[in-house]
Amino acid sequence: KQDDDQLIIDAGQKQFGATTCSSCGMVYSADNPEDNFQHNQFHQRFLDSIKFVGWKKERVVAEFWDGKILLVMPDDPKYATKKAEDVRRVADNELGFQQVTLSRPTQAKTYLFINTERMVVGCLVAEPIRQAYRVLEQPDRHKDMTKDDFMERHRAWCCSTIPEQALCGVSRIWVFSLARRQSIATRMLDTVRSTFMYGSHLTKEEIAFSDPTPDGKLFATKYCNT
Ligand code: ACO
Ligand code: ZN
Repeated sequence: KQDDDQLIIDAGQKQFGATTCSSCGMVYSADNPEDNFQHNQFHQRFLDSIKFVGWKKERVVAEFWDGKILLVMPDDPKYATKKAEDVRRVADNELGFQQVTLSRPTQAKTYLFINTERMVVGCLVAEPIRQAYRVLEQPDRHKDMTKDDFMERHRAWCCSTIPEQALCGVSRIWVFSLARRQSIATRMLDTVRSTFMYGSHLTKEEIAFSDPTPDGKLFATKYCNT
């Protein structure tokens, strides 16, 4: 979409240029019929997916002034697993993941951050793993631009070939675009560490992120160093 926007010459019209919808967060060009159509298609479906009506049984694993974190297990009632799946689909859609199936669905734990406006604004899927390969530091920027560009675009982070012990794999982490940089991902991850394995607190080293996006990598780097 961004490429399209750049072709539009701002002639001073009221609605020209990119608009961010203040409820669904989609960035679109309001005067472009195709864009408007896409937004209309997306808007209600998205808001329905993240709407939280309250459940008969909620496994509250953390509470904050601006929301709470619920844990959904694979054997939970349908209303809970269905919501977890809906939100995961929204996240996958944004991450560009094609298939919605998890590698070990029977062992996956889904953490949902519910805000005070009853919306699911964060989702984290954690699965038990045995080992992981550490993502190595990016090679120096100045070396070879084309190679760097290639790596950036293909998300081909260099991984170590030495497996390290890890216990918990984060296969998805997503925060609603309009709720980012409010420590929601940080708080979800802190909660995973204290609740993922019964009776033990996981260290940051025992958590591994699978195939991080650029956003995910910036977040993970910050999180692991603090
Ligand atoms: N750019 C730079 N630094 C960042 C960014 C970013 N986009 N996001 C987080 N950080 C760093 C910051 O230092 C931040 O602290 P600050 O806000 O005080 O500066 C710190 O990480 C903590 O960030 P949070 O507020 O806890 O993170 P947030 O709730 O915004 O969620 C997330 C981060 C999940 C990556 C969000 O941006 C997102 O959903 N992005 C789109 C989906 C995505 O790419 N998910 C990761 C996929 S990888 C995977 O699933 C395994
Ligand atoms: Zn919208």
